[in-house]
Amino acid sequence: MTISRFSDTLIARSRQVILTHQQPGGAYLAGPFMPDYQFSWFRDGAFIAYAMMLDGEIAPVQHGGSMAAQWESAQSFHDWCVRVILRRADGLERCIARAEAGQPIDPRDALNARYDAQGDDGPDGWPEFQLDGPGAWLWSLSAFVDRFRLRPLPLEWERAVRLVARYLAALWRLPCYDCWEELPDDVHISTLAAIYGGLRAAERLVPGLDCSTTAQAIRAFVLERGLTPGGELAKSVGRDAVDANLIAAAVPFGLLAPDDPIMVRTIERIERDLHAPGSGVHRHLDDVYYGGGAWVLLALWLAWYYIERGDLAPAEALIAWSERQADAEGNLPEQVVPPMLAPEHYLAWVEQRGPIAQPLLWTHAKYLIARAVLARSPSPRACIDWRER
Ligand code: BGC
Repeated sequence: MTISRFSDTLIARSRQVILTHQQPGGAYLAGPFMPDYQFSWFRDGAFIAYAMMLDGEIAPVQHGGSMAAQWESAQSFHDWCVRVILRRADGLERCIARAEAGQPIDPRDALNARYDAQGDDGPDGWPEFQLDGPGAWLWSLSAFVDRFRLRPLPLEWERAVRLVARYLAALWRLPCYDCWEELPDDVHISTLAAIYGGLRAAERLVPGLDCSTTAQAIRAFVLERGLTPGGELAKSVGRDAVDANLIAAAVPFGLLAPDDPIMVRTIERIERDLHAPGSGVHRHLDDVYYGGGAWVLLALWLAWYYIERGDLAPAEALIAWSERQADAEGNLPEQVVPPMLAPEHYLAWVEQRGPIAQPLLWTHAKYLIARAVLARSPSPRACIDWRER
């Protein structure tokens, strides 16, 4: 499919990549050409659906139905999530009961990080137990429901929201894999932020649902146990390090305001430790995945944070850099190398998984989000043609 079929901008290409690789049942394949990524993640999908919602406001694609294609896409993903969650309701109830009784949960009862397009489990051996994804999904769903004033919620949606909120409220203290699918024995601050944002969203989704006690407990826990000696948010409890995923604590999950001093210090350390000069953003200093390259979606996430804080110049520089990472067809990758933190690991990953995922739908989503929030900021810059670089 050529770029000119839609338009010649990276925004149009991003929209096209996402719509093309969404499956008929609503699942978004994270990376359609990498076998390990031919699944749908709650986390990736939450941001992709949010991007589709924003993009539908700016450039609705009409296709015969009453809604923009982007909005139908987001709704279809949310429907897919609801089906996946409700099919596993018995397992989630067992998790909730065991966690509330202080007993260990059976990981087979918990939600997976990824499912195939039909909502079935992927192959064994994946780091599945990740609590940030369901939190991110609640946040994304609530943005969608707010936008379309969909209250009262469809009954199945409400059942899924209530169940996921109870699941997160019962399990939030448990160590789990983080959003990079690493360090299962840690309690990750970015995961707690996603759970916090998800619980707050659940309250907006279902009037009368009160998650405030848990949400306040999570926030208090982060402020007491989740800081580094330097007063930044920590990558996880007890670690004196930051991770670029901590941007999420402010944007979009709102655990801290973008200009909260703790958040500002955290971003300053991310800039110092993880923002490769003139390039993208590393995930964390110990990253060895594909040699630990610079992630495009993190550059765009940092740009989103800057826009929310009102700092447009650094945001524009990061967006411009991200645009230059698109290949000749306008596909954005997960990460670029060089720069690499651990170049000796690069080839082993290529041998195991193939080339770095490109396109990665989550990166395209972050691009659409950054562009959309920049466009509605006080002094937006015209959208540039991504090929003029
Ligand atoms: C990343 C996850 C992501 C998944 C699919 C993994 O390598 O660490 O954050 O959800 O790829 O994009």
